[in-house]
Amino acid sequence: MLFSIRPYERKIFELIREAGKELNYPVYVVGGYVRDRIIGRDSKDLDIVCLGNGIELAKHLATKLRPIPRIAVYSRFGTAMIKHQSIEIEFVGARKESYRHDSRKPIVEEGSLEDDQNRRDFTINALAVSLNDENYGEIIDPFGGLFHLEDKTIKTPLDPGATFSDDPLRMLRAIRFAAQLDFEIEADTYLALSKFKNRLGIISKERITGELMKIMATPKPSVGFKLLFDTGILEIIFPELHRLYGVELRNGIAHKDNFYHTLQVLDNICPHTENIWLRWAALLHDIAKPPTKRFNDKVGWTFHGHEALGGIMVPKIFKKMKLPLDHKMKYVQKLVRLHLRPISLTNENITDSAIRRLLFDAGDDIEDLMTLCRADITSKNDAKVKRYLKNYEIVQQKLKEVEEKDHIRNWQPPITGDLIMETFGLKPGREVGVLKTAIREAILDGDINNEYSAAFDFLLEKAKEIGLQPVN
Ligand code: CTP
Repeated sequence: MLFSIRPYERKIFELIREAGKELNYPVYVVGGYVRDRIIGRDSKDLDIVCLGNGIELAKHLATKLRPIPRIAVYSRFGTAMIKHQSIEIEFVGARKESYRHDSRKPIVEEGSLEDDQNRRDFTINALAVSLNDENYGEIIDPFGGLFHLEDKTIKTPLDPGATFSDDPLRMLRAIRFAAQLDFEIEADTYLALSKFKNRLGIISKERITGELMKIMATPKPSVGFKLLFDTGILEIIFPELHRLYGVELRNGIAHKDNFYHTLQVLDNICPHTENIWLRWAALLHDIAKPPTKRFNDKVGWTFHGHEALGGIMVPKIFKKMKLPLDHKMKYVQKLVRLHLRPISLTNENITDSAIRRLLFDAGDDIEDLMTLCRADITSKNDAKVKRYLKNYEIVQQKLKEVEEKDHIRNWQPPITGDLIMETFGLKPGREVGVLKTAIREAILDGDINNEYSAAFDFLLEKAKEIGLQPVN
């Protein structure tokens, strides 16, 4: 079968063909680019395999391009990369050994095209398009990858045990592709996932997390997480999430399965946000339910404090998974910690001060918090869902009113620590903190107005109570 070369590809393919021909290297487009183009998905990086030296091919091609591009050479791996008109083109010589894109191990043994295709992860990723005169544009498909694209199947080209032993990360890639492309994992390949799951132990956290991030970015991440769970992989790579699974029954009272609830919350939020960190907040919002679970004869199951403990668990999980520990982690932590607060604002006679406190604590993330809360409604009872959503509309309205009136979001109290120190001749220390907090609380509670002179009078009064006098 012929690959339908698009007009925008014609020129670059032609130049690669020419460069290969001049060096006497047969050249092929391979891997994800071919797969994605055939199924009509956005294709990004172009991988070129040649029967020869990939670095030489890149250098030779570069002389034909305008402007002449810079070449990134990775000599230890025998690969080179050129950026041309917003696409990255990677060049490599065909190899006998396992193809590892991001391996630290240099793999240099030369092979035929067939050897190279043999050692790739899935049949759909082992397709090659010839750029050579004798069969230009022909798709070389030794393992039925085209059929599997049609049939929506993920299958390893060789025995799955051999493919997964070459690089155990491929087990996660199988699940990630199934989730991303909406494909099924073929039976033997699927069975091998459970069988070889412990091999994931040798894979770096960064690579594992890279795949989880891709699953999180799919429109329905529960598909990937259910596969991870069913194959037993989740327990190895994300035990805290796995622990949410299960229902306990006592005195005829059961609690909901927090694993499936969490996945539903995650799926619910996806149509409303592409923000991967808001999705992470959905994934982690109930993460501390297992360690806070208690049974009480009067009220049944409780998970008191799971939001606070969840907030404590977030940095630990991020650290372990090598996720960023910067403001992104803080954002997830904040949402996990606050995820119950809007619910407590849904009763009728809620005070402005409670609203001000939430605006102060959530700051600019208030909208995201409300999005998370709406996604957290997973009741199957339509009337309940309607009622909860209506309540949130009321909360949202109140948030808007109070914010318009008091401007609490991103607000800084009118008296700074510096001014307190200057006024009373203090050095940095506990007393400054006490006074600052007292002013903030009085404003949030509505005891004094949110302006300088009221706050300064209040400061003088409070300072007097703890025996401080202004210095002049
Ligand atoms: N590959 C492999 N085993 C791996 C990683 C990659 O066999 N563990 C091969 C596959 O043939 C894959 C190609 O290398 O198609 C390119 O890898 P990569 O760019 O990581 O993945 P893509 O398949 O292009 O998909 P994506 O960009 O979505 O990760």
